[in-house]
This record gives sequence, structure tokens and C-alpha cells, in this order.
Amino acid sequence: MSRVTVSTLQKMKDAGEKISTITAYDASFAHQFDVAGIHAMLIGDSLGMVLQGQSDTLPVSVEDICYHTRCVRNGVNNALVIADLPFMSYATPEQTYANSAKLMQAGANMVKLEGGEWLYETVRGLVDRSVPVCGHLGLTPQSVNVFGGFKVQGRDNEKALQMIEHAKGLEQAGIQLLVLECIPTELAKAITEAVSIPTIGIGAGNVTDGQILVMHDALGISFGKIPKFSRNFLAETGNIEKAVALYINDVNTGAFPGPEHSFN
Ligand code: KIV
Ligand code: NA
Repeated sequence: MSRVTVSTLQKMKDAGEKISTITAYDASFAHQFDVAGIHAMLIGDSLGMVLQGQSDTLPVSVEDICYHTRCVRNGVNNALVIADLPFMSYATPEQTYANSAKLMQAGANMVKLEGGEWLYETVRGLVDRSVPVCGHLGLTPQSVNVFGGFKVQGRDNEKALQMIEHAKGLEQAGIQLLVLECIPTELAKAITEAVSIPTIGIGAGNVTDGQILVMHDALGISFGKIPKFSRNFLAETGNIEKAVALYINDVNTGAFPGPEHSFN
């Protein structure tokens, strides 16, 4: 595989090819995923939970993400590297530019931020300043205290229509990739058809253009609990190389996620 860029991902959506992505936090796993042919890796603020053992992602700092981005960058040859902007690091456009510069200089090819309409100006500003942006809608974990828990989002009609509008607005503002987390499959399908950029789902059914999982969930090492939307690929295969190959294969064929990993 050659180097994956935002254009590669767009071409894949246009050709109807599925995009396989996963989180990564260190060079060794990043290298394994890269060799297996994973298209993009996310240094997610999920590291607050799976690496640091916190109960949510809010304590994660820009420095934490930068450190792990440098680690992942050293293990990657081909995959696109995406870094999360953590909680409150993009509260204003000016803050966002300064913090995105740190992530890009740590080795990211793209930054990701959570939210809808309130971010249009920020996204436009980033793209104008040459920073590619990935959006994130649905269950945006940095809003856990507003949601009152980690709950499926977009279940009522009004909220669903609003999410479709936000997806289109973010696309117009300039995002080149969009993560959809824990939303009904029908809504993920509607959003994927409403935008021309690739959508990447987690708990959003097999209707998105690609999938992402937290690597610890895919390998069954998340404190003994695997979320409904994940699958223990390591238990099924017995080794990490085969687990990643099976994940990529089942994303490609649409076998993962199945209805048992999705929400209605
Ligand atoms: O932080 C993270 O790992 C994420 C993915 C679950 C999309 O944002
Ligand atoms: Na995240």
C-alpha cells in the first residue's frame, strides 16, 4: 500500500471501497496496524480511559496527545495519522490554531474535534491555515456531562434532522472526514448520503464509508468490558496480526459491524 492521504480516502468513498481505521497510541501497535493495511489511525483522547484509566476523556491534555502522536508517527509508514483535540483545547478559534499547530508538528496529518454548528468558523479557520479537519458527531464523549452519560444520540426526529444539518454545515466549512459515534444505523445512512466526504462509524452500523474502533476494544483488553458496538477480534483469532487482518476484512465485506453491534 502507498501513503494514504485525504484524497485517497475521498477516492475510496467515491469508489464505494470501505475505509478501515483504528485508534493507536504507540509505535509498536501503530507499526502492526500500518503493515496490516489500516488506512488511518487516530490518536484518540480515549487514551484518557484506556491508557490512563480515567472514567472519561476530559482530563486529557494537548501534551498527552502530542506525546502519543509522536510515538505513533514513529511506527507509521502509510496510514493517515489523525490526532484528537482534547476537551477545551478548541474553545476559541485562536486556541484551536495554537493547539492544532502542536498536534501537526507532533506528526499528525489531520486534527479531529467534536461538535456541530458552533465549530463552523473554527473549521473554516483551520482549513484556511492548512490544517485538515475531521469532524465528530453523535455521542461526542467530551459532552458526557451534558448528555448525562454515554448514551446513543439522535434517536428523536428533531435531533436526527439537526445532526444531518450539522454534518452538511461542517462539510461546507471544510471538514474532509466525519466520525459518527453511537447513532441509529438509519441516521448514519442518511448522513453518509447527505455529505460527499467519507463518514467513519463507531456504533453507527455498517452503512458508513468506514469504521473505527478503540484498539483496546478490538483486542478485548478494555477492563474486561467490551462495548456493544465492538467485537473481540483477538479472541476469535488468537494473535494480533490475524485479529487486525480479520477486522479489516470484515469492515471491507460489511460483515462488521453486524446488527448485534448496531443501534436502531
Ligand atoms: O478518542 C477516540 O478514540 C475517538 C474514537 C472512538 C472515534 O474519538
Ligand atoms: Na476522541
